[in-house]
Amino acid sequence: MGEPITILVGTMTGTAEFVAGDVSKVLEEAGHPVEILMMDALDAAVFERPGVFLICTSTYGQGDVPDNARAFFEAVQAARPDLTGRRYGVIGLGDSTYGDTFNAGGRQFDELLAGLGARAVGARLEHNASGGTMAEDAGVEWARGWVSELERAEAA
Ligand SMILES: Cc1cc2nc3c(=O)[nH]c(=O)nc-3n(C[C@H](O)[C@H](O)[C@H](O)COP(=O)(O)O)c2cc1C
Repeated sequence: MGEPITILVGTMTGTAEFVAGDVSKVLEEAGHPVEILMMDALDAAVFERPGVFLICTSTYGQGDVPDNARAFFEAVQAARPDLTGRRYGVIGLGDSTYGDTFNAGGRQFDELLAGLGARAVGARLEHNASGGTMAEDAGVEWARGWVSELERAEAA
C-alpha cells in the first residue's frame, strides 16, 4: 500500500473539487489511500496527518486564494508548523487572461509550504482555463506523472 495522500481543496465555483475527485481515482488506482478535504474548516493541525499533501486550488480576486481557503492559508502562515520532511504537490487552476496574477493562488500555497520546510514533489500544475484543456483532464494527466515521482522518491 502506498503512502496516504490528503488532497486539500480551495475552490470558488467547484472546479478544483471536480479535479480533486478525478485525481483521487488516479492516486487510488496507484495504491494510495486518499482523502479529500475542503479547506473551509481547516487549520495548521491538518499537517499532523500522516503521508503526503496535495493542494488543489484555484485563484480569485487579484491573485488571491479562494474564499474557502483564505482562513486556512492565514492560519498556517500564523502557526508556522515545521513541515521539514513532509512532501507535497500543488495543482493550481487559473486563467491566463488575468495576466500577472495567473495561478497566483497555487503559487502562494507552494511558497508557503516550501517556506515551512516541506519538499515539493514534481512541478506545480498550472492549469489555464483559457488554454483549451479541461481542468479535470489536465489534472488526471499531471497526477499520473506526480504519483510516479512520489513512488520514485519513496523507493529512493
Ligand atoms: C472573479 C474571478 C477572478 C479570477 N481571478 C483569477 C486570477 O487572478 N488569476 C487566475 O489565474 N485565475 C483567476 N480566475 C480564474 C479561476 O481561477 C479559474 O476559472 C478556475 O478554473 C476556477 O476554479 P474553481 O471553480 O475551483 O474556483 C478568476 C475567476 C473569476 C471568476
